[in-house]
Amino acid sequence: MKTIIVTGGAGYIGSHTLIELLNNTDYNIVSIDNFSNSSVASYDRVKKLVSRPFQTFNIDLCNENDLRLQLSGLTNIEGVIHFAAFKSVPDSVADPVLYYFNNINSLNNLLKFSKEKQIRNFIFSSSCSVYGNADELPVTEDTPLKKAESPYGHTKQIGEEIIRFFCASNPWLNAVILRYFNPVGAHMSGLTGELPVTKPNNLAPIITQTALGKNTLTVFGSDYNTRDGYCVRDYIHVTDIADAHIKALHYLTEHRNKKSVSLYNLGTGNGVSVLEVIQSFEKVSGKKLNYGVGPRREGDVVAVYANNSLAKEELGWSPQYSLDDMMLSAWKWQLTIEKGG
Ligand code: WQD
Repeated sequence: MKTIIVTGGAGYIGSHTLIELLNNTDYNIVSIDNFSNSSVASYDRVKKLVSRPFQTFNIDLCNENDLRLQLSGLTNIEGVIHFAAFKSVPDSVADPVLYYFNNINSLNNLLKFSKEKQIRNFIFSSSCSVYGNADELPVTEDTPLKKAESPYGHTKQIGEEIIRFFCASNPWLNAVILRYFNPVGAHMSGLTGELPVTKPNNLAPIITQTALGKNTLTVFGSDYNTRDGYCVRDYIHVTDIADAHIKALHYLTEHRNKKSVSLYNLGTGNGVSVLEVIQSFEKVSGKKLNYGVGPRREGDVVAVYANNSLAKEELGWSPQYSLDDMMLSAWKWQLTIEKGG
């Protein structure tokens, strides 16, 4: 049986992708995670939602020798899906070197490992933050990249270039780069979702925690040049993101790719303001959210949302979930957490 390696498989998007891989493909699935922003409990929640086992390895991808040693016995590896990276915009502003060291070294080590094992298919987790403050919206995959507004976004810009040059010098490797917009929500079963190890920086978990009085939402800025003065993002359900990885894997393994490196926006195509996210949450939860408005957050892009037609056309991918679905699933998951789930 062929093997797919998922790095960061205990993380938010990684664990949701494990579920889709285990339930919708026949690959032997191997997950690598060092639990720097996740916990082994994430695997326990995945096991409740799938009907077959998967292998796990506790590896820090920045430790090249440990990666090679622990995975030395793996053969017949069909592909790698690389999620493992630090991904907080504000944390990256606070500690740039940590982000450059972790996100770049882990990618380099994984590519070297892929060469040694002659792994032919590589899917890279990138981000809409590579666009910076784009001149035109929605952004397409051909939109020129502006200066990254955060070290996080810059590590993704650098990662994409590393993959391009690596594939150019190793034509046996084919890659798909997936630029996620803002993944939010939780598995529709309510049995797993985003569970940050530390206090979250991103909007959705802060909203659901605030609704239970466990956090305090401050909206960062209401004076932006947008339709209501609040930052605009393209929020997309995490299961839609996970599904795109299955489709990208089939795209590569069925040799439908026309180039050695293919690039896709994973967004709904809808730009939504912070206020509109709050209003959606209040509608689906029936909870009135208490929040304040504070100063702008450094590193924030004013507005970004996707033209997602290329992923639809070439991957056959189309987002299925609405903003209300995202907020309701996030709320259901928060209530599960409260019940000790
Ligand atoms: C969203 C909006 C904040 C918290 C993301 C992540 C990651 C990446 C895309 C893939 C912004 C506002 C937030 C709060 C707020 N995708 N906000 N108060 O910054 O777009 O970063 O980039 O890798 O999903 O890195 O996501 O959720 O932090 O912020 O007002 O307490 O919510 O200002 O406008 P962001 P976010």
